[in-house]
Amino acid sequence: MCGIVGYTGRKQAAPILLEGLTKLEYRGYDSAGVAVSDVLGKIVIAKAQGKLEVLKEKIDGGKAIQGKCGIGHTRWATHGVPNETNAHPHCNDDSTIVAVHNGIIENYAELKAKLQRRGYQFYSETDTEVATKLVDYYYKKYGEPLKAISEFALRVRGSYALAVMFSDYKGEIFAIRKDSPMVIGTSGGDCFLASDVPALLKYTKHVYYIENLQIAHLFDGQAQFFNLDREPVGVPLTEVTWDAEAAEKDGYEHYMLKEIHEQPRVVRDTVGYLLHDGNIDFSELMLTDEALAGFKSIVVVGCGSAYHAGVVMQYVIEDLARIPVRVELASEFRYRTLNLRGDELVIAISQSGETADTIAALREAKAQGLKTLAVVNVVGSTIAREADYVFYTKAGPEISVATTKAYSAQLIAGYLIAIKLAEVRGAVSSEYAKALKAELLLLPEKIESILAEQASVQQFAFHTMDKKDAFFIGRGIDYAVSMEGSLKLKEISYIHSEAYAAGELKHGAISLVENGTLVFGVLTQEGLIAKTVSNLLETKSRNARLAVVAFEDIELPQVCEKVFSVPRTDSHFAASLSVIPLQLYSYYLSVSKGNNVDKPRNLAKSVTVE
Ligand code: F6R
Repeated sequence: MCGIVGYTGRKQAAPILLEGLTKLEYRGYDSAGVAVSDVLGKIVIAKAQGKLEVLKEKIDGGKAIQGKCGIGHTRWATHGVPNETNAHPHCNDDSTIVAVHNGIIENYAELKAKLQRRGYQFYSETDTEVATKLVDYYYKKYGEPLKAISEFALRVRGSYALAVMFSDYKGEIFAIRKDSPMVIGTSGGDCFLASDVPALLKYTKHVYYIENLQIAHLFDGQAQFFNLDREPVGVPLTEVTWDAEAAEKDGYEHYMLKEIHEQPRVVRDTVGYLLHDGNIDFSELMLTDEALAGFKSIVVVGCGSAYHAGVVMQYVIEDLARIPVRVELASEFRYRTLNLRGDELVIAISQSGETADTIAALREAKAQGLKTLAVVNVVGSTIAREADYVFYTKAGPEISVATTKAYSAQLIAGYLIAIKLAEVRGAVSSEYAKALKAELLLLPEKIESILAEQASVQQFAFHTMDKKDAFFIGRGIDYAVSMEGSLKLKEISYIHSEAYAAGELKHGAISLVENGTLVFGVLTQEGLIAKTVSNLLETKSRNARLAVVAFEDIELPQVCEKVFSVPRTDSHFAASLSVIPLQLYSYYLSVSKGNNVDKPRNLAKSVTVE
């Protein structure tokens, strides 16, 4: 989704803005622009449709626009087609007020009509032009930026991270957010703002996350913060523990491959976050054993891969802790009649912590008086700030749009929560709990051994790149992993793919299996393997091509064209291993097809609109 950057300080702004936007490219976008104010305060805007390279070329890497204060934006179209006119920054009639915006102004049509009645004209189809002209209206009325922005906030419904420059306030940036992320940093006389940390990491690791409806004023190397009554407010300084290198490609051809290879480290760190000397310690989460034991059931919410991690979590918690769990798509949960009970725990899973639907689901749960636990990767994100308890996954910055390492970290969070719940509820023997914890520590090494076989996955991907359809089938946790494998394939290789609970295939979808259809079976769950094998054979008799991911010691029928073996582990943790060949397969297939692996078409890293 859209990305925002801002800079004011001692250096030329445009190259810094372009660099920041480059770091945010992974969020997905279809046009880009910057606005820079020169020594006299005159604001120059440059925009381009398409990739950032086009904009960079247009302004000679930033050299063509001189000035030490500016804002920039990558746009992922919501209102109006992706073209140069609709690209940000947007401005008032004489370009004395210029703004960039992430999010959606829900009542923009109504506001636009009001402004039109007052004589305003509009050149674009965007809600951001409306936002900019609304600020212009209140600035002309009150003559003061903070007042104009707070009046804007009082009139606007929806979500926004808005950064504004006023030519009357040379070298200054004003910003406000509501339900859309914004991070601010200062460093030796320079001020930065961005919608995401990687854009700032090169310059500072000490950042401010402003709260909803707080206004930031950046000038003269400092950041000041205000509430809507324009009273100064304190915003704590947070240290980002990621380093800039963690957000670089590190010699890999794509971020996705780098992130797939980081999984042993991510799993080790996420296990090590709470498992010390054989004990899972939730005090870091501020969640006491008594509170945990008091929950009678659990609802897990998330979107996309986070939802899939939730499905694994459901199977593992139900089996180990013997407590009812349901898992819901956040986008559905938020609009349903929920009939929640006060003694339920709601777990919201999100890499970014900024997914609009998951935020809404979390708020709905809180509004109904339930306790909420966030499983989140980005420190200081909205979900992390609003949940009662936070489990930080230790994936580090994930840049590739298709998630891999964050999903793996979410799985680990699920296992730790499941074991801890099982312990506080007395649902597992201490011997078994000990064995489970010991097995968790072995997962990184086992993942490494699967990664070592990547060449064989690459070969199979190359030989199947002409496929138009694929099915992923499994039962129990194998079904949950099938969902993730299938999503990975479709999002980056653009191959149509379906995940099916293996037993469900013959209730309809098997009619789509024809000569050469690719069917992946996931076979790790004791007691279910023979059944899934039967379902695979049913597709084979319709001339499907079979590939399976299975524990290395499982006996398989000869008819499987390709077997991806993974080391044995406790079956509750099998997803952490079986997903690896599926991630690699999608990656190599996407590479074989020459797709833009890290930035697949139509997708955004952080989905901040519903
Ligand atoms: C798939 C993918 C998405 C995200 C989903 C939720 O590879 O990345 O399906 O999992 O958009 O995002 P977060 O976890 O940031 O809430």
